[in-house]
Amino acid sequence: LPTGPLEADIVFRDGLIEAIAAPDESSQADEVVEAQGCLVFPGFIDPHVHTRDPGQTEKEDFAHATRAAAAGGITTILEMPNALPPLDTAEMFNDRAAHHLANAFVDFGLWGLSLGSENISQIPKLIATGVVGIKLFWGYAFDRATKRLVYNLDDISPDELVPPATNGEVLEVCRAVAASGGLLAAHCEDRTIIEACQRGLAGAISDYEDLLLARPPEAEAASVAVGVELSRATGCRFHVLHMSSLESVDLLAKAQQQGLQVTGETCPHYLSFTADDYAQLGALLKIYPPVRRARDRERLWSAIEAGVITSVGSDHAPHTLAEKRVPLHSQPAGAVGVETLAPVLVDAMLKGRLQPHHLARVLSEGTARLYRLYPQKGSLLPGTDADVTLVDLAATTVVDNATLHSKNPLSLWHGLTLAGSVRATVIRGRVVYQDGELKGSASGRLVQPHPVASRTNDA
Ligand code: DOR
Ligand code: ZN
Repeated sequence: LPTGPLEADIVFRDGLIEAIAAPDESSQADEVVEAQGCLVFPGFIDPHVHTRDPGQTEKEDFAHATRAAAAGGITTILEMPNALPPLDTAEMFNDRAAHHLANAFVDFGLWGLSLGSENISQIPKLIATGVVGIKLFWGYAFDRATKRLVYNLDDISPDELVPPATNGEVLEVCRAVAASGGLLAAHCEDRTIIEACQRGLAGAISDYEDLLLARPPEAEAASVAVGVELSRATGCRFHVLHMSSLESVDLLAKAQQQGLQVTGETCPHYLSFTADDYAQLGALLKIYPPVRRARDRERLWSAIEAGVITSVGSDHAPHTLAEKRVPLHSQPAGAVGVETLAPVLVDAMLKGRLQPHHLARVLSEGTARLYRLYPQKGSLLPGTDADVTLVDLAATTVVDNATLHSKNPLSLWHGLTLAGSVRATVIRGRVVYQDGELKGSASGRLVQPHPVASRTNDA
């Protein structure tokens, strides 16, 4: 638990937690899951998954991504809204949820997409319909016809684009999100700074140092700073996704000290690797924002320990093997990670980089609170969903692309042996994964944030 470990039995009934009992007090159970030698966490949540479904299922699909999640100890995923078509209107919500229900091996929530002014009237409706947050791919344009993310503005003529949202548009989005009590989460990398840095490079991005020069920490920090100020101005809850740099963590920490409602997420690749790993991993390491230096990695770890960063997500962003096996400048950014999110952090815990209660915070309670899913998710409180992840402290996990469950398994951790292992994943009382095997069928459910307390209720 975020308060520290406790030795106990956990009693489940009808999919809910009934009690935390003294060891052996509850020997009447119909079914017993042995947890000797394990830490039992509130079911882990991955808030940052791009399953590519529908529309880009050659890269990944919901069935593969949610089976990978279950095998990695994840009981709930939050699905990013850049499938095709993206979830940018409230009226799509039920269809999208139904589409996923058929294939959901774990529980799931849905993100809604902000297209700046383009769909601003949808923002209150998306929040009221039950998205877990509004995602802003800040600085990105979208193809007007397909609503596909455009990674490079030169690829497409301006009249075919929904242009990147300006800071003024983001201010309006913040107002709309604040008025609805929602959460605005952003990819923070300033496009104009990136463009200027790219102009400064002599030719194409041919090695990793060029990529770092093209997408420097100041591109991230500048967007974080603007987001902080817009949150200050509007009262909007603002969440910085996939933080990768020391400078932006410092900005976030300062804003939190000032009492602003700003939060941050980082990802295992920023905690595991640095630019030096490019020599071994090659172009596979291409992810936006980029994996940077040892100083950034150290700052991210300290932010987790200090509670500045309260949520870690995988940014599971699969591409096909063919797409990823091309030179650095032409391959799409993104890597698989939903199945290794928890194992990588468990390994870090066993190596002393974080305490068990920190792990419970960033993979369970902190994430659940952020997306208003707590205590149904992310807690072991009686009456809440019986979701737990059993972590075997004595076993090890060999990460092997051949045994990962994604459609295009190409893991950054391939070949590594991690300390600890996910022994079982339990969702609403059902064991969906145990001792290396997935169990049962796709019985995942949609989760929605609990409603924001109205002013009358607050009083
Ligand atoms: O590396 C990335 N891949 N970063 C993003 O922000 C988007 C993601 C994707 O969807 O491919
Ligand atoms: Zn992402």
